[in-house]
Amino acid sequence: MTRQTEQNRTYDPSKVLPPGAAIGVLGGGQLGRMMALAGSAMGYRFVTLDPTPDSPCGQVADRQIVAPYHDVDAARQLAELADVITYEFENVDADVTKLLMAESYVPQGSKLLYTTQHRLREKRAIEAAGVKVAPYAEIGSAEELREAVRRFGTPCVLKTATGGYDGKGQWVIRSLDEVQEAYDTLSRARTELVLEQFVHFTKELSVIAARSPRGEVKAFPAAENVHVNNILHLSVVPARVPEEVQREAERMALRIAEELDVIGLIAVELFLTADGELFVNELAPRPHNSGHYTMGACRTSQFEQHVRAIANLPLGDPALMTPVVMVNVLGEHVQPLLDWIVRPEAEQVPGVTAKVHLYGKQEAKAGRKMGHVNLLAASHEAAFDWIEASKIWDAI
Ligand SMILES: Nc1ncnc2c1ncn2[C@@H]1O[C@H](COP(=O)(O)OP(=O)(O)O)[C@@H](O)[C@H]1O
Ligand SMILES: [Mg+2]
Repeated sequence: MTRQTEQNRTYDPSKVLPPGAAIGVLGGGQLGRMMALAGSAMGYRFVTLDPTPDSPCGQVADRQIVAPYHDVDAARQLAELADVITYEFENVDADVTKLLMAESYVPQGSKLLYTTQHRLREKRAIEAAGVKVAPYAEIGSAEELREAVRRFGTPCVLKTATGGYDGKGQWVIRSLDEVQEAYDTLSRARTELVLEQFVHFTKELSVIAARSPRGEVKAFPAAENVHVNNILHLSVVPARVPEEVQREAERMALRIAEELDVIGLIAVELFLTADGELFVNELAPRPHNSGHYTMGACRTSQFEQHVRAIANLPLGDPALMTPVVMVNVLGEHVQPLLDWIVRPEAEQVPGVTAKVHLYGKQEAKAGRKMGHVNLLAASHEAAFDWIEASKIWDAI
């Protein structure tokens, strides 16, 4: 098993950081912002490091260091100002991680980052934890790709091992004729490649689990996720799948959290097939867009849970209090949302409460994640009625 030994643990099970402690966040995006909002409410102080002044997290933190993520001197300053360090994105520079671990307290360690920064390492770690992933093959040449495409059949998905997000760094191969072009295009990224069998999923689910240095683990209810143009559009909770499937997805996430010795949050993306099988797609060692529904819908949000986990407080209750639909606000949805929110009789649908979250980003570029709306609802149907009545997402 992959469990770390006592010796190479980066966290101290007896170290607790009570409110008042300063939390340093590498990255100033929306995930850091919502972490700082939740943690500040509990009395923690926040300092963030991000190259863009007035970043989403910088706006709500006590302080922002403005510098590139790989700037070792800036990382040293972050280490001096913070009692504990966390991150809001996984592509953290290895030298920066090393420095922070030497000069500050990084309970999440570097091992999980190292694993999840690379699709092949990640898949091997999931398998070693006894959890299923879709069939995959490491690809070193166009010939190897051709052979693997023959074996898996088409369609199949070629992915760069590092650096992909929102569907970038991927190629769906639909015939053997595309092999050379797919290989040439993706190998330009100069990273290993991985071919995955195409999973004809009926639903995409995700589960966010938390683990603390004291060894406590808890999972949030499984979310059902709908993507549009490879970007998350909706999360529906409870997921519209049988309860056994929800419980199984949650068990898989808890198992991954324990076996990979996670501290903080781990987001587990899953595919559900027509015959009820679950495969893990990928992991993210941080708060996740598909966990934004927890804000207001669960007794504890994913952001509070992350703060509790890295501070080694007892974990909060993740129980769901109401059905919810989370809908993302991209650049093109901002103006319709702003038009909606100022209307005196903003669309009312009985039983629906709309909670608007905006991230404070200046430029509303199309496709850019600008915010989300959580529709706390008596039923999912009522939440979908609200989405339609508001007309905010009509352009989709
Ligand atoms: N092997 C696969 N079979 C079917 N669909 C896939 C497969 N891999 C990815 N996808 C689709 O593409 C989306 C993005 O892929 P993912 O691996 O999660 O990359 P990222 O989220 O980093 O862009 C998935 O949510 C899923 O809809
Ligand atoms: Mg994904």
